[in-house]
Amino acid sequence: MDKKWKTSIAGIIDGEAHIHGYKVTDLIDGVTFTDAIWLELKGELPTEKEQAMLDSILISTIDNGLGPPSITNARNSASAGNPMQAAIAAGVLGVGEAHGGAIEECARLLQMGLAADKLVEKVISSGERIPGFGHKVYSTDPRATQIFAKAKELGFYGEHCELAVEVEKILEEKKAKKIPINVDGAIAAVISDMGFDYRLGKGFFLIGRVVGLVAHVFEEWVREKPFRRIADEEIEYDGVPPRLLKKT
Ligand SMILES: CC(C)(COP(=O)(O)OP(=O)(O)OC[C@H]1O[C@@H](n2cnc3c(N)ncnc32)[C@H](O)[C@@H]1OP(=O)(O)O)[C@@H](O)C(=O)NCCC(=O)NCCS
Repeated sequence: MDKKWKTSIAGIIDGEAHIHGYKVTDLIDGVTFTDAIWLELKGELPTEKEQAMLDSILISTIDNGLGPPSITNARNSASAGNPMQAAIAAGVLGVGEAHGGAIEECARLLQMGLAADKLVEKVISSGERIPGFGHKVYSTDPRATQIFAKAKELGFYGEHCELAVEVEKILEEKKAKKIPINVDGAIAAVISDMGFDYRLGKGFFLIGRVVGLVAHVFEEWVREKPFRRIADEEIEYDGVPPRLLKKT
C-alpha cells in the first residue's frame, strides 16, 4: 500500500539507519561532519574541494560575538531560566531577513539570470534593500572577502560571485557610498555557483549558527546570574506622563 509519509533521505533498512543509501555506522567511521551535511542536502558525498568550501561557509556563520539578535535572544532566553532547546529556539527566531536570513533572498535574486544593473533596479525601485549587502559594523566584511578567496582557490568562484561583485559596484554608484557584500551575500553567491537551490539559503546560516548558540547558552548559565535585565540607565520611558484615571 502507498504509505502517507515518504522520504528519499534516510530510513531504517534491515534494522540499521541509512542516509542516502549509506549505513550511518559506515559514515561514523569514514566521513567528516561536513561530508555528512553535504550528503544530507545533496544526496551524494562531496568531493574534497566541495567539502572544504562547505566547511568554510559553515565556519563563517558560527559566531560574530554578543551583538547580533540570534545570540542575544538565546542568552536572554537562557537567562530567564529556559532549557537548552528553548533558548536555542529563541536564538533561531532571532535570525531574520536583516540578520543571517538574507542568504535565501540574495541567492534567489542572483539565480534569476538578471544583469547586475537590472537586479539593483528591480529591488531598489520597489523600495527594498538588496539582501546580502550592507553591515552594521563592517565597511568591508572580512568574512565575505575570505569566502570569495576560498571560492577562487577551490574553483567555485563563478558567474554568481561575479554578479554579486558587479551588484556591489552598481549599488555603490547609486547610493554614492560603499554598501559592502556581507557574509550572507558571499555565501549566497558561492552556494549558487555550487548548484544549491536558493531555498536552502537560510539553512546554511542556521546549521553553523546553532553551534554558536549552544556555546553561548552554556556560557550564560555558567558565567552569569539568572534574570538578565537591561540596565535602568539604558531604558527611557517617553510615553504619556502619569495621569489620573477618572472613572465614568
Ligand atoms: C545589515 C543592515 C541592516 C545594516 O544597515 P545599516 O548599516 O544600519 O544601514 P542604514 O540603515 O544606516 O542605511 C544606510 C544607507 O544605506 C542603504 N542601505 C543599506 N543596506 C542596503 C542594502 N542592502 N541595499 C540597498 N541600500 C542599502 C540604506 O537604504 C541607507 O540609505 P539612505 O542613507 O539613502 O537612506 C542593512 O545593510 C541591510 O538591511 N542589509 C540587507 C539585509 C542583509 O544583508 N542582512 C545580513 C547582514 S549580515
